Amino acid sequence: MITGAGGQLGRCLIEAAVADGNFRVFAYTRSELDITKPEELRDALEEAKPDICFNCAAYTAVDRAETDQEKAELINHTAAERLAAACEQREVLFVHFSTDYVYADRFNRPLRENDPTQGNSVYARTKLQGEQAVLRQQPNCFILRTSWVYSEYGHNFVRTMLRLGEERKQLKVVSDQVGSPTYARDLAAAALQLAKDEEAKRGIYNYSNSGVCSWYDFALAIHEFGGVDCNVLPINSAAYPTPAVRPHFSLLDKSKFAERYGAPRHWRLALKECMDKIKVLG
Ligand SMILES: NC(=O)c1ccc[n+]([C@@H]2O[C@H](COP(=O)([O-])OP(=O)(O)OC[C@H]3O[C@@H](n4cnc5c(N)ncnc54)[C@H](OP(=O)(O)O)[C@@H]3O)[C@@H](O)[C@H]2O)c1
Repeated sequence: MITGAGGQLGRCLIEAAVADGNFRVFAYTRSELDITKPEELRDALEEAKPDICFNCAAYTAVDRAETDQEKAELINHTAAERLAAACEQREVLFVHFSTDYVYADRFNRPLRENDPTQGNSVYARTKLQGEQAVLRQQPNCFILRTSWVYSEYGHNFVRTMLRLGEERKQLKVVSDQVGSPTYARDLAAAALQLAKDEEAKRGIYNYSNSGVCSWYDFALAIHEFGGVDCNVLPINSAAYPTPAVRPHFSLLDKSKFAERYGAPRHWRLALKECMDKIKVLG
């Protein structure tokens, strides 16, 4: 069972689960299942009778959340908790997704799953509360913390840079925030791999593609692969203020995942695949 099936991760997960061939997939977009509505949740669980529930539904508008706290809280915390509890009651394995934003201190080294957490924005706080509540309800779930998610679907940095690069001669992109992009297809494959692995240790896993870059580096690579001729200039975050604070250091340590399944592929390889798909889809 997949919630938030119209989002970029949800769509990639449907495709990955169907391609895997071992799953009967029940996927629900927001209009088919609003996870904040308990009766819709109950009906969907009754219909799908799942063994595994992947919760891809989330309030992901980081800046809007600053003025829309109640809704962000309801979706990212309350509804996630309720869904995890309903799954626990029915002995359904719960797979949830979270973010690098939950980490507290930004060390000068990749962030580990057991590093201290703290919500520095409404989005971060609601995602952290969601994680904690999910773990309380179903301690044996999987939570994948990820960063900088993009795909050929929906709204994301890759598609925005392509559009702006075509529209403008010059763009300014922040270069003092570093991390690793995550292709939603790779994240979907990782989530399936964990869920299928009966021996896998349950709990929190970091997952992103390998390598490190700034948003500026990422934009340059998008234009390189997209054949976009645009002058991209690096700027500091201070020159691009946003309602919600952004972490400067988002690089995730993936060794817990990599020890069992191998290191995720490099972000440039994943980006190239996504760009090829975007060229086909238009
Ligand atoms: N995107 C990133 O850069 C990023 C980074 C780190 C972590 N994550 C996490 O990764 C996960 C997947 O993110 P994504 O990039 O796939 O986000 P997305 O494209 O925004 O998808 C989220 C989906 O959830 C749906 N949704 C919102 N409220 C809902 C509700 N009440 N009931 C049911 N569905 C609801 C949305 O529907 P509508 O579009 O109709 O609102 C949307 O289809 C999330 O947990 C997110 O927090 C994302």
